[in-house]
Amino acid sequence: MKAAVLHEVGGPLSLEDVAEPDVSQSEDCQRLSLVEVRAAGINFADVLIRLGHYPQPPPLPTILGNEVAGDVGGRRVLAFVRTTGGGYAERVAVDDEWVFDLPQEASYAEGASFLTTFLTAWLPFIRQAHIRPGSHVLVTAAAGGVGTAAIQLARHLGARVTAAAGSEEKHALARELGAEATISYDEIGELDDVDVAFDPVGGPVFAACLKALRPLGVAIGIGFAGGAWEPVDPARLVGRNVGVQGFYLGRLMGFEPRLVQEQARELIALWRRGSIRPVVGAEFALAEAQAAHELIASRRSTGKVVLVP
Ligand SMILES: NC(=O)c1ccc[n+]([C@@H]2O[C@H](COP(=O)([O-])OP(=O)(O)OC[C@H]3O[C@@H](n4cnc5c(N)ncnc54)[C@H](OP(=O)(O)O)[C@@H]3O)[C@@H](O)[C@H]2O)c1
Repeated sequence: MKAAVLHEVGGPLSLEDVAEPDVSQSEDCQRLSLVEVRAAGINFADVLIRLGHYPQPPPLPTILGNEVAGDVGGRRVLAFVRTTGGGYAERVAVDDEWVFDLPQEASYAEGASFLTTFLTAWLPFIRQAHIRPGSHVLVTAAAGGVGTAAIQLARHLGARVTAAAGSEEKHALARELGAEATISYDEIGELDDVDVAFDPVGGPVFAACLKALRPLGVAIGIGFAGGAWEPVDPARLVGRNVGVQGFYLGRLMGFEPRLVQEQARELIALWRRGSIRPVVGAEFALAEAQAAHELIASRRSTGKVVLVP
């Protein structure tokens, strides 16, 4: 079968013939299924791995890609791939416990855009931030994969959303999804009434999010697309009655699989009811995986970028 293979850090993703995935037995005794991949989601972490900026990279050579949508027998599914990756391929092995039914009207591209983005916003919103109707939620990188999910989920929970993003086109998308106000990153410094800051950018943007909190507010660190986090002084958190939370979906899937699976089903039910919908920004053929990565790294992508084998 064909797959996009990464051989070296910084190197290209080259389309090659590779061995079929083995679904005969799993090391951890999970039942495995073979998915015919119709779409594979690209996460920002994949881009960081390729560029050598990810803290726990897989050994090379590797096939990246940890979420797909496709067919298992006659069933249309979306699924997380086993921790070893392998989604940028025509077929991939998945643990049965991480396979979910794709809503009837949904496209495969939407299916490959759903699990990581929505779970990464939803779990911290309901378990760490306790958003209430009327809460003021700031979402940064608001037009990205995770950001577009966060806007929709904050609105679903009754919040008022301010979206920060890098261009006017991105602001327009954020408004379409329900953001009441859109701002540049520099303008975060003018806010002082944020209840929940949801931040996939990190670096100085996360520091600005912290300053924008009102008393009892919380900033949730999700990622460092814009650079490493600056140190946080607990004395300043105490003095201002604010908090910091961190969220990392991959690790939570290992520690609390039942919680994540239950909430994935909850989110898919919300999707079926039409309350939320993944945003697919671009689709690329598997042979163009490199171009898809470059689009994300250049900051020109919106929504989720997917590969279509
Ligand atoms: N913690 C978790 O479990 C988890 C799960 C999934 C993703 N993440 C993290 O969440 C972030 C968003 O992931 P995603 O897949 O949805 O990506 P994305 O938001 O679609 O793309 C990244 C966005 O980050 C913004 N950005 C700011 N500074 C940047 C820089 N120096 N270089 C590139 N982009 C920059 C850009 O938007 P603007 O142009 O609008 O600034 C860019 O579009 C990433 O940091 C990712 O690693 C974390």
